[in-house]
Amino acid sequence: MIAIPTTSTNTKSLVTENNRGSYWITTFGCQMNKADSERMAGILEKMGYQKAITELEADLVVYNTCSIRDNAEQKVYSYLGRQAKRKEILPHLKLILAGCVAQQEGESLLRRVPEIDLVMGPQHANRLETLLNQVDNGQQVVATEENYILEDLTTARRESKVCAWVNVIYGCNERCSYCVVPSVRGKEQSRTPHAIRLEIEKLASLGYKEVTLLGQNIDAYGRDLEGISKEGRRKNTLTDLLHYIHDVEGIERIRFATSHPRYFTNRLIEACSELNKVCEHFHIPFQSGDNQILKLMCRGYTIERYKRIIEGIRKQIPHSSISADVIVAFPGETDKQFQKTLSIIKEIEFDQVNTAAYSPRPNTPAANWPNQLPEKIKVERLKELNSLIEITAKKRNERYKDCVEEVLVEGTNPKDPQQLVGRTRTNRLTFFPDTGPQGYVYQPGELVSLKIKEVRSFSLGGIPLR
Ligand code: SAH
Ligand code: SF4
Ligand code: F3S
Repeated sequence: MIAIPTTSTNTKSLVTENNRGSYWITTFGCQMNKADSERMAGILEKMGYQKAITELEADLVVYNTCSIRDNAEQKVYSYLGRQAKRKEILPHLKLILAGCVAQQEGESLLRRVPEIDLVMGPQHANRLETLLNQVDNGQQVVATEENYILEDLTTARRESKVCAWVNVIYGCNERCSYCVVPSVRGKEQSRTPHAIRLEIEKLASLGYKEVTLLGQNIDAYGRDLEGISKEGRRKNTLTDLLHYIHDVEGIERIRFATSHPRYFTNRLIEACSELNKVCEHFHIPFQSGDNQILKLMCRGYTIERYKRIIEGIRKQIPHSSISADVIVAFPGETDKQFQKTLSIIKEIEFDQVNTAAYSPRPNTPAANWPNQLPEKIKVERLKELNSLIEITAKKRNERYKDCVEEVLVEGTNPKDPQQLVGRTRTNRLTFFPDTGPQGYVYQPGELVSLKIKEVRSFSLGGIPLR
């Protein structure tokens, strides 16, 4: 069926042979989902859909969902309710539930919200066109079976023209006892170095300056690819990949996330210090400062090992920034154990920390343990942790004061059109005037040397030097 655009303001979506109407994608969750959404947007545009101006006038709506915590999951049900109502008066509206909640709940979503046309897990993102064709044939489709992810041959429609996500490994083979990711994202599957390099070369030819290599456990990259080097080491490690893609002309910066302390290697630190495009930022979640909790989480390292990793980084690349993820109020966490998490925050002085209170997730061992902590403790601990992080992050940011930092311009500050925004190599968000002292107006994609004048907990402010 050809979907007729519901508004005349959306001039781009006049129906033609190649135009199926307008689409809207709302993305929840992590960078993986963002990358998947950009690929799905590319597929939709290739099929003839145009981006809608607002969600409530789109002919096709995709919710790319996250189930990492219960509140992320619940959010999507309220969004779905709104669209289900719209569908009562607009029967041609296509409603698609993609991502991790789709994988987790599968067919039961159709019973819960019968207006949904397509439920598709993250491993099926690149198959959107085939699945939509089945919907157009009048079927309600559920695609959640395990699937080998084929290379996507369409061009992703990326949000940024400067920085791009590049998936290098899908899935996760870890079994952290709290985490839903392995069950919703499936087994690890590395892309080949060749496919990754081709994508980065294409990005460079389109003017992109920065790539972030993505994996839930990026240190696992290449485990499933064949190839052993002369020294008996795996040839396709993340470190090898960094060397292999480093000379792509036009790309100025390379980042990667997320690192796992269990597999993090000294070779990786060496590569980062040798390869000048690889930015000095490490995102290494530690989750808890207490060894017993780490064991119950099945993380596979001790806090001493974690500290050694950080020491190693700071020794070899002293100015690098370090961020982490932490969970508070894991089942049975005592106040003493929580205090150990606070001590680590004070001791390490992270640049940034993402925090969350433990949320029991379906099909995870920890969710069935009897020693769940009450909501009150979760709220209190989270509050205490966040206040501490604000202080330590500000303290850590002080080191930038009056220093010169190179910032890659990403765009305009949404709150002030005369200001630009970008990030330092160490991933600090930095705001600055769009014009240099000699009247030069900076554009997205340019590298600017800034003198840092303002230091806040979560961002910096600077002035261009030329
Ligand atoms: N692969 C990454 C993180 C993926 S999920 C890693 O291994 O660290 C992102 C973060 O969400 C995790 O680091 C963790 O801090 C948090 N998280 C995951 N499951 C959670 C749960 N059940 N409750 C609260 N936070 C959780
Ligand atoms: Fe989840 Fe652990 Fe895998 Fe990270 S490494 S995605 S926390 S199971
Ligand atoms: Fe969420 Fe799925 Fe990412 S659960 S954090 S969107 S992998």
